[in-house]
Amino acid sequence: MQDKAETPIWMRGNYEPVREEATAFDLPVEGSIPPELCGLYARNGANPREGETAHWFLGDGMVHGVSIRNGKAEWYRNRWVRTPCFYGQKLTPETALDIRCSVANTSVISHAKRILALAENALPMEITRELDTVGFHDFGGALKTPFTAHPKICPLTGELHFFGYRVVPPFLTYHVADAEGILLRSLEVPVKGPTMMHDFALTSGYVIFMELPVVFDIQRALNASIPFTWSDTYGARLGILPRGAGIEELRWVEVEPCYVYHVANAFETADGTITIDVARYQSAWRPDGKRTGARLTRWRIPPRTSKAEEVQLDHQKIEFPRIDDRNTGKPHMIVYALANNRDLENGSFGGLLRYDLKSGETQHHDFGESRTPSEFAMAPAPGAGEDEGWLIGFVYDRRRDASDLVIFDAQRVSAGPVARIQLPRRVPQGFHGAWIPEATL
Ligand SMILES: [Fe+2]
Repeated sequence: MQDKAETPIWMRGNYEPVREEATAFDLPVEGSIPPELCGLYARNGANPREGETAHWFLGDGMVHGVSIRNGKAEWYRNRWVRTPCFYGQKLTPETALDIRCSVANTSVISHAKRILALAENALPMEITRELDTVGFHDFGGALKTPFTAHPKICPLTGELHFFGYRVVPPFLTYHVADAEGILLRSLEVPVKGPTMMHDFALTSGYVIFMELPVVFDIQRALNASIPFTWSDTYGARLGILPRGAGIEELRWVEVEPCYVYHVANAFETADGTITIDVARYQSAWRPDGKRTGARLTRWRIPPRTSKAEEVQLDHQKIEFPRIDDRNTGKPHMIVYALANNRDLENGSFGGLLRYDLKSGETQHHDFGESRTPSEFAMAPAPGAGEDEGWLIGFVYDRRRDASDLVIFDAQRVSAGPVARIQLPRRVPQGFHGAWIPEATL
């Protein structure tokens, strides 16, 4: 039996996996669920089926979902994604390049009437509205590379823009599917080498790749862990490609060395300046294990510049920056994020933030000492403008050792939740979630 000090953090406290799949109906609600909300909230995370994994990021994907209709919380379900790894396939140096060797544990999206569970080393796994696994989705055999956990849906065209990165050539491939989910184009993007590329950015006119100094590390790969490490010498740059253009139009712009898991949004303005808001770490995956927190940071790239201007927008440590996705690629005024103001043992996060980047006002809701949120997604009010809608996410409550699905009015975060849906069990700390309106399914 291991003592606590030997048990990795991702097997303890509210990171500890849950052992069973559960289903519960007609969940109790404190407050009132906005009647306009009709759909599914689904959130993915690592939940090893058996034993420990070498890293938190490597556990089997488990999706937790709550169905909401007519002001009621119809059901809660949690289901493992039935991947080959769920059925026993191991991630080894030999299987690492197999795009069907997947844990599908990182995020959930909905596009072209499909719900997809994603992990960045593999093909998407399609799941149903009831969270049952359908199987790999490879765009009718057309997709030959992994699929990022952070694709972007263009609100103007309905297209799905995404990329796949690998540690052997071609290192990076950019893809576009149309609004019906047909793969339209795949384009190899020349980079210096294999780097960890977790997210990217889309504007109405450009797609932007982040080549940052977290580089492939063969030693870590041989240990079957996350095969990347920080480099002091690799440099950091952004690759900017006009949408629809050939690769000869790709240009690179330098940024100060850093790491970014998550882009909040990007947009361009009439003078051609590209603006990108990110959660920026000074460094990451350092060999000395030192950790830094991410700050909301803005890169500005005027036309013909060779280096991005950089402004830190707030001093607080944050993660999981999100916007109203109706504004993907368009100018946004509001960014939502989690306040990363706790220690790791207690789930890292203590509050929900709403940044108004026009007025400079920041709203904050502190969940209190016993509660820890996971990522919050924005559920837009039908037909309304930016920021009109609700923020939805799971919050673990240590006092009752269970979680709530918590709903805020997006414009009034500091006023506290409008509804708390009580789940019959806890939802472990996880990764990304999505609000999937019924009308899109
Ligand atoms: Fe992510």
